[in-house]
Parts: sequence; structure tokens; C-alpha cells
Amino acid sequence: MSATTHSIQVRVNGRLLSADVAPRYALADFLRERAGLTGTHIGCGEGVCGSCTVLVDGASARSCLTLAVQADGAEVTTVEGLGEAAGLSEVQAALLEYGAFQCGFCTPGIVVLIEELLTEVDAGARPSTEDVRDRLAASLCRCTGYAPILAAATACVAARVTREAR
Ligand code: FES
Ligand code: FES
Repeated sequence: MSATTHSIQVRVNGRLLSADVAPRYALADFLRERAGLTGTHIGCGEGVCGSCTVLVDGASARSCLTLAVQADGAEVTTVEGLGEAAGLSEVQAALLEYGAFQCGFCTPGIVVLIEELLTEVDAGARPSTEDVRDRLAASLCRCTGYAPILAAATACVAARVTREAR
């Protein structure tokens, strides 16, 4: 570690990564350049579009505005950590079923936000359609018009609520 860098340790998708980073190095850059996880997209780079959204200790965060040093000691989950080795995850399958992406640039952030909602359902929350809409408002999509994304997310939440009620 030099005088201008900090040593950090971040658990990313279950894998512990160590690195020396500059104080202003963004978590998004750390994930893409150091961890090789390019599923986290950088669109605006200034906290507006949401395409860089990841989970930090379970809460969604814009990784372009989060410094890598702020993630020191944290658990970070990217879109790559939300898939399933056996095939599509529930969220991915729903996005596919509803045609909820075109270019796909916003999709990683959308997947992360829906997965966050599902975790909240697992913990007892019962988000309304308005709640789902509010959460998804954190990510901009230039292609779909949002309706299929909202339909997919609402279907995922409804299915999870039904499963939790059994
Ligand atoms: Fe982070 Fe747009 S790239 S919010
Ligand atoms: Fe293109 Fe959302 S699918 S930006």
C-alpha cells in the first residue's frame, strides 16, 4: 500500500478480494476492473441511471457513487451473483417472459432491485404495486417504456408472497 492507496478487503459474490485502491476509486470500477465483473454497467457515472446498482450488505447502492474504500469489509452482490448455475433465476425468467429488456443495458440494475424486493418479501414485507414502481424508479430504461419491467417485477413479488404464505 502506498501513501495514496488504501488496502481493502471486499467479499464479492462470496469471493474475498483484496486490493490496494486510491481513495476516490469507485466501487463500480473496482468490480469491473479488479473483480472482472462487467455485468455491473456504468451509464451516467453520476448516480442518475441506476445501471451500476449492486447490493452492499444486502441494500441496493449505486456503485458509481460508492467508493471502493467504503465497501471495505462489506459483502457485495452483483448481477453475476444473482444467477443460478442450473439456469435462469426466477427474476431473469420473469424478465424474459415479459419481454422486459431490449438493449439490456439497464437490466443488471433492474435485476438487483427486484432481488432486493424479493429478499424483503422473504423478511415479511408485502410491497404494493406502487412500492414496486417506486423501487424500480431508481433505474432508468431507455428502451422498454417500463411497463414490461413493472409487470415482471410485480409477478415476481406476487409469486414470492404466495410462496411465503404457504
Ligand atoms: Fe451509476 Fe448511472 S452509472 S447511477
Ligand atoms: Fe435498454 Fe433498458 S433495455 S436501457
